[in-house]
Amino acid sequence: MLGPLEKLWRESMVLYLRTGVTVLETAADGLKSVEALIEGRSLPPGIDSDRPLDPTTPEAMAFLAGLQGNILKGHGRDHAMHLLVCFGRPRDEAAHAAAVPRIRAWIGRMTDTRVTSAAAQWQDRARETTLTTLMLSSRGYEFLGEKRPRDGAFREGMQERGRRLGDAPVGAWEPRYQRDAAEIHALVIVAARDPETLDSIKEPIDRELAAAGGSILVDERGRQERDSSPKRRAIEHFGYADGVSQPQFVHDAAPAARHYDQRAPLNLVLEPDRHARGGFGSYLVYRKLEQNVKSFEAAVEKVARELGQEPELVGAMAIGRFKNGTPVATQAGPKPGYDPRRDEDFDYDRDPDGSKCPLHAHVRKVNPRGSLGFLVNILAREQRRRIARRGITYTDEDNGTVGLLFMCFQNDIRDQFEFIQRSWANNPEFSEQGTGLDPIVGQAGGAAGPDDSPNWPTGHGSSGRKRIRFDEHVRLLGGEYFFAPSIAGLHALAGGG
Ligand code: HEM
Repeated sequence: MLGPLEKLWRESMVLYLRTGVTVLETAADGLKSVEALIEGRSLPPGIDSDRPLDPTTPEAMAFLAGLQGNILKGHGRDHAMHLLVCFGRPRDEAAHAAAVPRIRAWIGRMTDTRVTSAAAQWQDRARETTLTTLMLSSRGYEFLGEKRPRDGAFREGMQERGRRLGDAPVGAWEPRYQRDAAEIHALVIVAARDPETLDSIKEPIDRELAAAGGSILVDERGRQERDSSPKRRAIEHFGYADGVSQPQFVHDAAPAARHYDQRAPLNLVLEPDRHARGGFGSYLVYRKLEQNVKSFEAAVEKVARELGQEPELVGAMAIGRFKNGTPVATQAGPKPGYDPRRDEDFDYDRDPDGSKCPLHAHVRKVNPRGSLGFLVNILAREQRRRIARRGITYTDEDNGTVGLLFMCFQNDIRDQFEFIQRSWANNPEFSEQGTGLDPIVGQAGGAAGPDDSPNWPTGHGSSGRKRIRFDEHVRLLGGEYFFAPSIAGLHALAGGG
């Protein structure tokens, strides 16, 4: 019989090996909630952090009015403009002191005239209006001389953190993203139904910013790809349905899930805003990811030849879903008329060793859906890793390249996005020894070994395995970490604290 201490030790070792969660992290989580309680940073009365929000209640509407849009629910528009903003490059301290009030005034004007609250987003469910959000980088807060949001990874910024994530060095990024991180102060996202509206909105933003001494460093346009089905499903450039599985923060009338519950607590993405008591914001990870569609398709065909299988199945074994979204864990081929509302409720319980949906498949790596075991409340811990994805595809007509403007909101960048990227996607030993890298976003950091190659089932449901190399077909071209302040937080920044 194991003594209680020995049992705890064994359980924490297994937990660490399988999920990278340490006992120290568990203790740190506890401290975080105590801190939040002491500082009164919990959610307002009437808003239950453990349940999705019911926006029909007056408390919920009041809460949403203080939150920026696009955090709890994606904007859903087909066109979006992402403006990386520099607040200015003052020559000396005196010039800096003079620049700050002008930038504060610009933030105030943006907040009053353009920024869309989550309440306004909810009221415009037909998505007729444009949706605008304004976020600051850590350097943006520093420029204003303001206290920065507490997340350590946010404070360091993506360029600095990239080494830990196996990211390509900044020198290999797209030239216009190869900025000194100290120049990137803010991100403005405007989403609209058509590109002309975006152009007409950019002009005054650009003018007002220039008058305040700032400038637009990068104007990155997103255009959502859609398939030819009657539903015009959103797809990414490899051709697979995207934006299907998402944590649900808003109450939905759909029947309760039997296998995998998508409902998520608000504090999975929300973080108290230090500049506005009772206000909440969220951290955004922004990454421009170029996709090499030709090389991806060639790699799928090569694996298909070596396994003697159809490319359609092999592609599904790389992603974890067929092109129309059907999970390969539940079906050997795409289900006609696949409907996420009806067919989406699945987990990996009936495929524990990955003979249908391989353990390396992108969706299984980045969301194991409770398949890691039952130790120390492992599902709850795994569920804390979830992110709210808000990406949009892009097409660069000038040089014929395509990709994904990957974006996700979370409460803690290190424990959510970075953990998924580093400890799961990039880790060939996750979720067990010999799994291999995530074939879509796994980054070996330039040092891929033979054991990093995915271990493919030789057929759907087959116990045979074959290790076949699958090169990287997604390349990081640039990005940064941002914080989307609460509306009151933006007013506080505009007014000087
Ligand atoms: C170009 C890069 C990427 C492509 C082509 C891609 C593609 C996809 C596709 C096709 C799906 C399935 C549909 C869906 O559930 O929405 C998916 C799901 C997902 N992806 Fe990615 N993805 C990319 C980057 C990333 C990155 C960088 C991360 C995080 C590190 C990530 C995390 C996720 C998550 C969490 C899911 C949902 C899994 C689930 O809940 O079942 N993806 N992705």
